[in-house]
Amino acid sequence: MQSAKCKVRSARVKAACVLQFALCILVCPSPEFAFAEDASPKLVGSASCATAACHGGLAGHKFVGSEFPIWSARDPHSRAYSVLRNDLSRQMAEQLKLPKPAHESAVCLNCHSPATSTDSKLSSISGRAPLAGVDCEQCHGPAERWLTEHVRTDWRNRSAEVKRQRGYHDLTDVLTRANVCADCHVGGPGRDVNHDLIAAGHPRLFFELSTFHANWPKHWPDEIDAKRHPIELGFAKRGILTGSAFEARLWAVGQVVTAQRSLELLSHRAELAKETPAKWPELTEWNCFACHHDLQSASWWQSKDGSKRPRVSFGWNAWPYAMLEPLARQKPSPMVQLPEAELAKLRRHFTSPLPLAEAIDREANAAAKSLRVLAERLNHADSTNDVLSPDGLAKLRLMLVKDEGPRLVSRDWDSATQLFLSLNALQHAIAAQGSLMETDQERDRQIQSVLDSMNETLNFPSGLRSPRDFSAQPIERLQADLKRLQKLLDGSPKN
Ligand code: HEC
Ligand code: HEC
Ligand code: HEC
Ligand code: HEC
Repeated sequence: MQSAKCKVRSARVKAACVLQFALCILVCPSPEFAFAEDASPKLVGSASCATAACHGGLAGHKFVGSEFPIWSARDPHSRAYSVLRNDLSRQMAEQLKLPKPAHESAVCLNCHSPATSTDSKLSSISGRAPLAGVDCEQCHGPAERWLTEHVRTDWRNRSAEVKRQRGYHDLTDVLTRANVCADCHVGGPGRDVNHDLIAAGHPRLFFELSTFHANWPKHWPDEIDAKRHPIELGFAKRGILTGSAFEARLWAVGQVVTAQRSLELLSHRAELAKETPAKWPELTEWNCFACHHDLQSASWWQSKDGSKRPRVSFGWNAWPYAMLEPLARQKPSPMVQLPEAELAKLRRHFTSPLPLAEAIDREANAAAKSLRVLAERLNHADSTNDVLSPDGLAKLRLMLVKDEGPRLVSRDWDSATQLFLSLNALQHAIAAQGSLMETDQERDRQIQSVLDSMNETLNFPSGLRSPRDFSAQPIERLQADLKRLQKLLDGSPKN
């Protein structure tokens, strides 16, 4: 990792880096025992990454070598363990009747501090000190088999496949990155923010990769991500103009991976139900507002005739799946058949209060498999002439605003908010792709002001726990904002 950085820096910096490697090789602890090839690689304990000579801040640059101090001072992941000692966590542990406090319970530690959890699948440490919280190895991969190697200069020339075999997560790859985040932000076996946790006070997990990625204080320069996904836009006086498809790919891959991993979690929950029927049905799989009318402003659940008869009935949780259809319907498209039959069946199951776990397990599994293929294709989609190209994205945005938007906005808060987050992500993605070609700053400013207005209506500040406090009559306001957006986009040759 370090070596890749050295390549692009000045000679003086390079000398410092080389010195750093030398120190690293000397002082970074290496695993002492041989590993069995078939066992999964172990964590070495991220305290070893924080050594001053490695990532602990020897270098005076903004990022290189200073990953640990940035993580420790600014990244919420470094605080993920300490929040397990706060009042909310204490209250949750009490309500859930956990036999131990939250900061000692695997049910919490598996996401908040996996290396210190008692769950042996997540925390097998080869004898070194872990860092509390979501530490380096949670994202970069258990380092037992790559720690020694990654400080050598030839590490950067290793193929992605070799690195993967060593247990190293190649986070330069958007799909790998999305899946790493989903491990905790969507969940899976042993990591489940289910209705019991939410009812005890845990925030509901609303994951949208491009939004989380943008809000996350990073320990590497954003420009590196942009440069890894260049698109050529044409020639100008000063040479080839390039933009970046990184933001676009991040959004599209993130949407599909979130849906896929949610289906896998659903399948896992349905499987558990076979052994422990009391765990079924899992209420977070439904639209929350089907039961919790007070969570949503009146206009979403009152019937149109103004009577108190709820408009929202039982239905599937829309959050992870809201943007799938618009993405798949877009032409030219790198895919791609959505698993429509399975998704339709699943949607039907959730109109009943007690759906059959066995059928759900089967269909969720099948749908997840197709989505995995779709995520792969989007990850490698050609960014010059398909859905992720400047032209493709502009069309997709117009379609969202004109055709899909009005439907999504009046469906429920989850769908409306996903639409807003996607429009916001696309605005950034389009700016990153085309800003060198043609800028219309006044129009961009106006688009941003409409997006800000939608944000306010949806009341989506950071730290949101539940959409309980919506302002009144959001649907009408959102529809009006979509009309304003449509006017702005229609009026432009660039869409
Ligand atoms: C599936 C992974 C997962 C599990 C399991 C989990 N959490 Fe969390 N927790 C998260 C994530 C992710 C967030 C951040 C929420 C967000 O902003 O999306 C969070 C947020 C929190 C917060 C709010 C933190 C803040 O800064 O306000 C508390 C408190 C908390 N969790 C406590 C717990 C406790 C106690 C348990 C066990 C009973 C637990 N969590 C289990 C993933 C998890
Ligand atoms: C929540 C996930 C996450 C955590 C925790 C995390 N990283 Fe990272 N890190 C990333 C991502 C994503 C990138 C960008 C992709 C890349 O460049 O490899 C990155 C980039 C890096 C890079 C630059 C690699 C390069 O290609 O130039 C280094 C070095 C690094 N991280 C070290 C650390 C260290 C040391 C820690 C612990 C103190 C840590 N990271 C914790 C996700 C994480
Ligand atoms: C091992 C589990 C884990 C992984 C992997 C992980 N996170 Fe987190 N993340 C958490 C937990 C737990 C929190 C809550 C921390 C807190 O509030 O104290 C969190 C918080 C966050 C927050 C702050 C959320 C808020 O509401 O303020 C962002 C942003 C975030 N993560 C982004 C990411 C991204 C992007 C990735 C992938 C590159 C990622 N995370 C990977 C567990 C994880
Ligand atoms: C099938 C009906 C049903 C669905 C769907 C449902 N809940 Fe609940 N919820 C309940 C019931 C019943 C209780 C009270 C019993 C308990 O605490 O489990 C409750 C309790 C709660 C509580 C704590 C009590 C309160 O009102 O402060 C919260 C918070 C909550 N649910 C949030 C959610 C969220 C968020 C979702 C969607 C992800 C959801 N619920 C989906 C039925 C449901």
